[in-house]
This record gives sequence, structure tokens and C-alpha cells, in this order.
Amino acid sequence: MLTIDEAFRKFKSRLELNDKEQKNASARQQEVRDYLDTKFKIDRSFLTGSYARWTKTKPLKDVDIFFVLKSAEDHYRTKAPAVVLTDFHDALVEKYGNKATRQNRSINVDFGVKADVNDNTDYRVISVDVVPAFDKGSDFEIPDDELGRWIMTNPQTHADKAVAAHQAYSSEWKGLARMVKYWNNNPKHGEKPIKPSFLIEVMALQCLHGGWGGSFDREMQAFFATLADRIFDEWPDPAGLGPPISNGMDAARKSRARDLLRAAEREATLAIDHVRRGRTGEALRAWRELFGPKFPLS
Ligand SMILES: Nc1ncnc2c1ncn2[C@@H]1O[C@H](COP(=O)(O)OP(=O)(O)OP(=O)(O)O)[C@@H](O)[C@H]1O
Ligand SMILES: [Mg+2]
Repeated sequence: MLTIDEAFRKFKSRLELNDKEQKNASARQQEVRDYLDTKFKIDRSFLTGSYARWTKTKPLKDVDIFFVLKSAEDHYRTKAPAVVLTDFHDALVEKYGNKATRQNRSINVDFGVKADVNDNTDYRVISVDVVPAFDKGSDFEIPDDELGRWIMTNPQTHADKAVAAHQAYSSEWKGLARMVKYWNNNPKHGEKPIKPSFLIEVMALQCLHGGWGGSFDREMQAFFATLADRIFDEWPDPAGLGPPISNGMDAARKSRARDLLRAAEREATLAIDHVRRGRTGEALRAWRELFGPKFPLS
């Protein structure tokens, strides 16, 4: 039988990006870029967000692509963010129909790929988030429809912080972040406990500290506990540029998240107890129940 450590390592690797997925993501980026080039003056585009940082979970969806506009499009910057989002949405609807949906800071393009019961997509990306962006020094300005203003962001700073945290944690930090994001996506919760899921990563910058202790199950138990303790804190943008990442949830939603995080902590405690009593099979089933189908039983 699989040991708990082997199971977590297998789980971790199942949540890693592989070559086929990266090829598909690049092909989708190129496809959308080729089309948008016929509509806007685009300087460059790049895959970003958790995808580029290696903290995206599975199935692969909402992969962020920044489309950095040339100065010929600067007229948008003096207008409400809704204007550029509407124009991008209208353009993408022409090609993708109702598979293009407008969001707060981006347009989501769904490629009609469905995940199977094991959360596999045959290595294909389900959807991308098209983000119109402008250079602002070494930072970027992106539209925020809810705030009704342009916000600043710097994906490179977020990436650098993730790399530093990963290195300080014996190269296990990104794997743990992907696992909790996978837990967060588990459909058994209905709505995601933590929104946006970027908040998990931002909290992990502080909640995973003291160094890697050597066992996945104890790391997870402690991580869930600290997330529950600190979900009501304010969590600013780690790059110090954009609005607080914790603004995505009201008090009721935070309270629900805290309850679900505490429940996950209790399930982790029970799973650890199973191992102590020699019941590895029970422990594997408990972790599988907690995370979902990508956690292996064998
Ligand atoms: N409030 C914010 N201020 C500044 N930058 C932000 C803010 N929220 C998100 N970002 C940046 O935009 C990127 C994309 O946001 P998104 O919500 O898709 O998060 P993500 O890290 O890609 O997580 P997910 O795995 O859920 O897609 C983030 O990775 C981060 O670099
Ligand atoms: Mg994203």
C-alpha cells in the first residue's frame, strides 16, 4: 500500500503543469492573440498569474493572459475601465460567442473542454482570462470594473515572492499552495470557501513559516489551522500596488471560510490519527475525501 508520504508526492505531481498542458496553453494564447491583433494595437502578450508562477491547481482553468496595449490605445486609460472591458468583450464575442464572458478585470474565454470525474481534461486548458493591460513603468495598469478605476499590479513581484517562499520552504511551498487551492475548488463546498483563490497564496506567504517540517500531513493540518485563524485579517497586495486581496469576501463569507477551514483541520487531525494507529488505508481515504479525486488511493 501507498504510504502517506508517497500519496502526497503523487498528489503533488498530479497538480504540476506538464509539457502537453504548457503546449496547449501557448497554442490558446497564440490563437487569442492572433485574433485580437486584428482588433487592437497590442504590444505583447504573456501568460501570467498563478499559471506562470507554478501555483495554478487542476483542472487548468482561467489561465491569465495579459495583453499589453500600445500607446495608440492610450485613449482607454482616461475612460472608465468598463469601456475597454466592453470593447474586448464585444470583440471576443464575435469569435467565441457566448463562450466569452465579461468579468471584473478580464474577459473569460471558455474552450468547451470538460473535466472528467478524475478532474482530467486530456491535458487541455478549459478557459483563459484575457486581461487588457498598459505598461506603467515596470508595473501595469489593469481595469477594475467593480472599483470603477484602473488598478496597478506587478506579476513579477508576486512571482519573486513565491520563489523566495518556495526556496525558504525546502521547495515544498508551491506544492502545498496548489493542494489547498485544489481543496478550495472541491465541488463539495458549493461556492469556493476562499475567494479569490489568490488569497490562499498571499496568506501562504505568511502562514507557511518556520520551515518545512518533513511530513505533508502535519504541514497540511497546521496550514489549515493558520488559514482559519487568520482569514479575518486584512491581506494587502504583496506587491503593495493593488487593492487588498482580502476584499473579495464579506464577513459572512469569511465566517463560512473559517468554519470550512476548521473542518478541514479536524479531518486532517483524524487522518493523522489513523496513521498513528496503523490504519493507512483509512488515512488515505480521509485525505481523498478532503481533497478530491486527484488525491491517490493507490
Ligand atoms: N488585488 C490585486 N492587486 C494587484 N494584483 C493582483 C490583485 N489580485 C490579483 N492580482 C494579480 O493578478 C493575477 C491574476 O489574478 P487571479 O485572481 O487570477 O489570481 P491567480 O493567482 O492567477 O489565481 P488562480 O489560480 O485562482 O487563477 C494574480 O496572480 C496577481 O498577480
Ligand atoms: Mg488566475
